[in-house]
Amino acid sequence: MHPFIDIHSHILPGIDDGLNHLAETLETFVELKKLGIGTIFCTPHQKEGSLNPPLLSIDQVFDAVVDEAGSQIRLFKGVENYFDPQFYERVSQRTVPTYGGSPYFLFELPPFTPVARFEDLVFQMNINGYHPILAHIERYEWIKASQLKALHSSMLYQVNITSFVEEVTPKARFKKVIRLMEKGLIDFLATDLHNKEIIPRVGEGMAFIEDHYGAETLHRLFSRNPRKIVKAIKSMEGPTS
Ligand SMILES: [Fe+2]
Repeated sequence: MHPFIDIHSHILPGIDDGLNHLAETLETFVELKKLGIGTIFCTPHQKEGSLNPPLLSIDQVFDAVVDEAGSQIRLFKGVENYFDPQFYERVSQRTVPTYGGSPYFLFELPPFTPVARFEDLVFQMNINGYHPILAHIERYEWIKASQLKALHSSMLYQVNITSFVEEVTPKARFKKVIRLMEKGLIDFLATDLHNKEIIPRVGEGMAFIEDHYGAETLHRLFSRNPRKIVKAIKSMEGPTS
C-alpha cells in the first residue's frame, strides 16, 4: 500500500493560524508518519485582510522546513485560497497559487453566506485551465448536496478526516459527512491540521472510515486520488527534474 497523502495542512510554522515553531512542525511530521502519512501539502491561508502571508514568505518558510525535514517526509507547496477579491483577481489573471504549479488548487468559501453567481465563478476557473478543489465541503451550510452534485464535473471535493469522529463533530456535520460519503461526493480526505492536538482525532477518523467504508475507500481518498496531484506537479517539472 502507498503511504497516505495529506493535501490540506497548516503545518508551516509561524505563517498563519497553524503551527508556530519549527520544532513543533518536525514533531508533527513524526506523529503523522506513525499514521502512515508520507506526503504532506503545506497549505497556508491566503485571505485578504486577515491571514494573508506574502507568497514569498511562504516560499522561504517552506524551503527552510524542507531543509530541516530532510528525507523523513515528502513535502509540497500549496495554499488555501479564500474566496475573496484577491482570489477572483488571481483567477481572472491566471495567477492563482496552485499545488506546486499544477492546475489543481485548494479554495474555501464563507461557511454561512451564500456566494452570488458561484456557478459562474467555478466555470471561469475551469475556462482558465484550473482544477479547483473545494476545502472541507461539510462546513458550508448554504450549499446543498444537490448543488455539489451538479458542480462535481467542475470541481473536486475535500472533507476533513476529523469530521468522521462523532464525539468531536457537531451532530449535523457528522450526519452530513456520512451522507456525502454515501453519495460519492468526497474526492479527498485531509487533516486540515492547525495544531498537534488533533493528531489522535485524525487517527480515529481514519479508523472510522476504514471500519465503515473499507481500506480501499480510505486509500482511494487519502492516497490514490491525491497522487494525481503529485503526478500533475511532477509533469509540470518536466522530464529532466
Ligand atoms: Fe485549512
